[in-house]
This record gives sequence, C-alpha cells and structure tokens, in this order.
Amino acid sequence: MCGIVGYIGSDNASDIIIDGLKKLEYRGYDSAGIALQKNGQILVHKYKGRIANLEAAIEGKDLYSHCGIGHTRWATHGAPSDVNSHPHTNGDGSIAVVHNGIIENYTELKEWLIAEHGVEFRSETDTEVIAHLVGLYYDGDLMDAVYKAAEKMRGAYAIGAICNKEPDKMVAVRKDSPLVVGLGEGCNFIASDIPALLRYVRKIYLIENNETVVLTKDEVKIYNADRKEVHRDVFHVTWDADAAEKEGYDHFMIKEIHEQPKGLYETLHRRLLEDDSIKLDGITITKEEIENLDKVYIVACGTAYHAGLIGKFAIERFARIPVEVEVASEFRYREPLINEKSLFIAISQSGETSDTLAALREAKSKGARVLSVVNVVGSSVARESDDVFYTWAGPEIAVASTKAYTTQLMCMYLIALHMAKEKGVMSQEEYLGYIRDLKEIPEKLKKILRSEKAIHEMAKDLYKTEQVFFIGRGNDSAVSYEGSLKLKEISYINSFAIAAGELKHGTIALIEKDTLVISLAAQDHLFEKMLSNIQEVKARGAYVVGLAKEGNTEIEKQADRVIYIPECRDELTPLLSVVPLQLLAYYIAKLRGCDIDKPKNLAKSVTVE
Ligand code: G6P
Repeated sequence: MCGIVGYIGSDNASDIIIDGLKKLEYRGYDSAGIALQKNGQILVHKYKGRIANLEAAIEGKDLYSHCGIGHTRWATHGAPSDVNSHPHTNGDGSIAVVHNGIIENYTELKEWLIAEHGVEFRSETDTEVIAHLVGLYYDGDLMDAVYKAAEKMRGAYAIGAICNKEPDKMVAVRKDSPLVVGLGEGCNFIASDIPALLRYVRKIYLIENNETVVLTKDEVKIYNADRKEVHRDVFHVTWDADAAEKEGYDHFMIKEIHEQPKGLYETLHRRLLEDDSIKLDGITITKEEIENLDKVYIVACGTAYHAGLIGKFAIERFARIPVEVEVASEFRYREPLINEKSLFIAISQSGETSDTLAALREAKSKGARVLSVVNVVGSSVARESDDVFYTWAGPEIAVASTKAYTTQLMCMYLIALHMAKEKGVMSQEEYLGYIRDLKEIPEKLKKILRSEKAIHEMAKDLYKTEQVFFIGRGNDSAVSYEGSLKLKEISYINSFAIAAGELKHGTIALIEKDTLVISLAAQDHLFEKMLSNIQEVKARGAYVVGLAKEGNTEIEKQADRVIYIPECRDELTPLLSVVPLQLLAYYIAKLRGCDIDKPKNLAKSVTVE
C-alpha cells in the first residue's frame, strides 16, 4: 500500500506534495514524510502519524524547494515510527527514495549490503535497502543507478528517487505497484494515483510495469526494461476533482452512502437503450463464446468479493452457468482448474489490488478470458483485462466501501442478464421485467436513505455492544457478510456473519442473553425459514434486529427491532438491504467516536500481498 507523490517545477514543492499526499491517505496513514532538494542538499522530514503531524512539524520552516518526493505509509516492514517512515536515504544522505510495495528479497540484500559494503541501516524497512542500492550504484547518473538497483530487487514497487547531485531531475520506476505521471506546464509530477494530481493537471501518463521515468520540469521520458525510450499516449482525465471533497458531510463514508442512488442510476442508464435493452460497453465477449463457457470464476477481495457472491447467485440463476467465487489471495496459489473455456471475472474498486491482479494474471496464463468490473478508469486491472465493465460510482474515498459495492452489484446483475439473453435461457419478457425493476432501485434506495434518522436512533441503543452476529439465507447471507464487514472495520466491534441454517452447527453456542443478532429476512421465499432461525436465537436470549420487506410484518412478532426495505423482487434485494446495514455501521462507529474514514490498520487500496 502507501502513497507516493513527487513534484518538479518552479512552485513550492512541499505544499504541492503534501496536498497530493492528503488525497492518497486512503492508501495508508500511519506515517508521512517528505524529501526536498535545497541548496545542494536533500532535506528529509518524516513523522509517525497522519499527514497533519508532518504539516505541523514543518510549519514555519524555510523549506522552499522546486523538487521533492513525499510518502504516506501503511506499515509492512517495521512498526510505524519516525525512523521507519519514508523517505529513506543512503548513507551520506545524497539520495532519497519513497516506495510503495514490498521488496521480497530485502533480507538477502540487506545482509549483502552490510557484509560486502559496510552499510549501516537505520530503519527496519525493506525500502531502506533501495536507498542504499541506488547510492551504491550511483556514478553520476540517477537513472542508471535506479536501473541497476531495480535489477537486484524482487517484489513489487513504485519508487520515486532524487539525488542532490542532480537537483533538476527525478526518477521513478514501477513494477506491480501503480504509478502515474502528471504533465503540467513547466512542471511534472509522479503519484500513486490520479486524485493526488487533479488539482494541478488533467494530462496523465499511465506508467506500465517495468518502466522507468525520468522527469525534469520541462520533460518526461519513459523507458522500458531494456532502457529503450517508449511512446505513451496522454490519458485525459475528465472527472471532477470536487467529487473527492466532503461537501458538507461529516465523513466521506456517509457522503458516499448518499451517492448510491446516483451511482446506481449512472451505472444502469449509461448502458440502457431506448427500448430498455442493455448495451454492455467495453464487453466484446461474443454470443458464441458465452454459449461455450463451461464455468465462470469470480475473484476479488474484501467488499468486492462480497459483491462476487451476489454475482454468483445472479449468473447461476439467470444464465444457468456454474460459478465459483473465491478470494484472490487463495485463488492465485491453489493452481485452479481454470482454462480457455472459463470466464474469469475480477471485481475491484481500485483496480490495483495486488492479489486480484495476480489472480487475473494467473487466469490469463491459463487461457481464460478475463472480464473486469472496475471503478477506477485506466487502472491496472482494467488495462490487463479483455473486457472492462466500469462501475460509475465516482471516486470512493472512505476506506469502508459502500457505493462501489452497490454499483458492483448492479454490474453483476447486468452481466448475468446479458449472458442469460445471449444464451437464450431467459425470455425477452422476463428480461425486460428485470430491467424495469432495476430502474426502480435508485428511487427505492432514496426512500431508505430518508429513514436514516430511525437507523441513527437504533444505533444509539446498540452502539455499546461488543459482539454482533449477522445471519441470513441465500442472497441475504451474502449481504450479511458485507454488513458484518462494514460494522467491524469501522467500529471495531467483534462481528461475525454466518448462513442462518449453519448457525446451529456450532456458532449458536455463542448466543446468550442479550447477544445482538442482526437477521436478514429480505426474501419472500426464505422468509418463514428465517423466522424459525430468529426463534432459535431468541430462545437463547438474543436481542434481534430483523430486516425484511415492507409488508412482511410477521417479523415484528419475533424480532425486537425491525428495519424495512421497500418491496422488491427477491433476486434484487441485496441492492437495497445492504444500505440500512451501511448506515447502522456508520452511526454505531460515530457514536463510539471512531475515525470512520480512516479505520485503524486498514487501507483503501491494498497493493501488497
Ligand atoms: C481493501 C479495502 C476494501 C476493499 C478491498 C478490495 O481491503 O479496505 O474496502 O473492498 O481492499 O479492494 P478493491 O479496490 O480491489 O475493490
């Protein structure tokens, strides 16, 4: 994880870098630092804690510089501390580097640097190895030194480097960690992600794997692994920088929860033709290829994996194709039986999640066709896929994913319906019925959001609990995983989700007087079964919050509290039922005084294994 930013130009580098780092705090926020070229020296300031700590520490200092690099950290090697923070320098402090990724052979390199070159290490990080390697190979040409250092390293990295002997130059290199270059007028930038640069530039180079970039204030040159200069088309960013601001909301999370009707509307309507048929832009898989598919694999991490669980329900139900869903960190190492008759679907908000990317490459190497559902345009997952289907959620900043999840669900429904139609297993009438119902979702979701106050009130009664169980069946069970994840990641309450029917095979042993059980009963065909499960936990003293469709008032006889969602066909309820759970998690975390947008130990984009 971690975020890097670099600037070279004529303005004050530290202001621009710190501003950019703030936009990358979603990538990690346990420490931050900056290295600046000044009067033939490299000045380094780095501190444990948020970027605000760094800002406070350097306030009033004369740090005016035209070139520098900065970093916001999510610790991998070595606990968060001033000394482990980036940038790291070589022995004489002439070279500074920032790094996002993991150097897998750093122990070996460290031992070699100590034994053969007498290097003294200051930190526990893998990154310090890079600084010493670049220093060791430096012979008047920073680019050459970075190349030689990169040849020694295994693992993933996006690195920015500066050297006091070449004050008008910055060098960056990337392998398996994201890196973009911003092209300004008389200034240029590097960053881990585009939002860091949106205030300054709209013209971007997306740097590919194993490419090295040399930047001056007037020029950017990109070289491949063989040191040959390569041409890159400019990527023009069209989206709005304001989308990454809170706009009066207390937190990005609540703003993003409220943006879901719009995100779902966009994700659907951008593909809808006048006759209500869907045109799946970015998807070129043919009817014949769909007919010949043996199996679909959906692979993702975290919340995106939970969207994949609903994708399985939809594809199997609508298109009658068997689907396996798996977390990417497992898929990539288990030698999956995927082949050229399989479709691999990667779901990722950021499009940069290291495990998802590795799983995608594994699937491609076995000949599978790769389709991705991605939010960030031009991200690595999108670029490496055969077909890309974008969620139109807009930038998602809060670490806890909300609008990315619901728009991912919308995409999965559309893909499943498309497959069903192409395979000829769904009638036109049934298909149009689903589209009609999907079109109603944004309005129904607005209705749920209007009842936000009631959920806030409920949170006041529940926020002191230290343990929660989420139960549900079918689609509801998949949603309960997501509801449980939301709650635990932002409120730190020990929360656990389990298929309701499985509860009695062990987990029910943990239910006792006043244990909070959130029971999802949003599907008509499983409603009575869920009422029985609620009775089972009630019989052991649980305090039950039930979730059901309006009209299914029977649940009031069993549950202590009830949340209703608007009427909706069973297959599509996840688009609605997750929203009260997001709100509940948000208000519980708020009442507990948690740092909602930046929960401890987490990061939004996980670009390390
Ligand atoms: C992190 C985030 C989650 C996210 C997961 C997958 O763990 O905190 O919110 O669901 O990564 O990220 P992706 O960008 O691939 O959807």
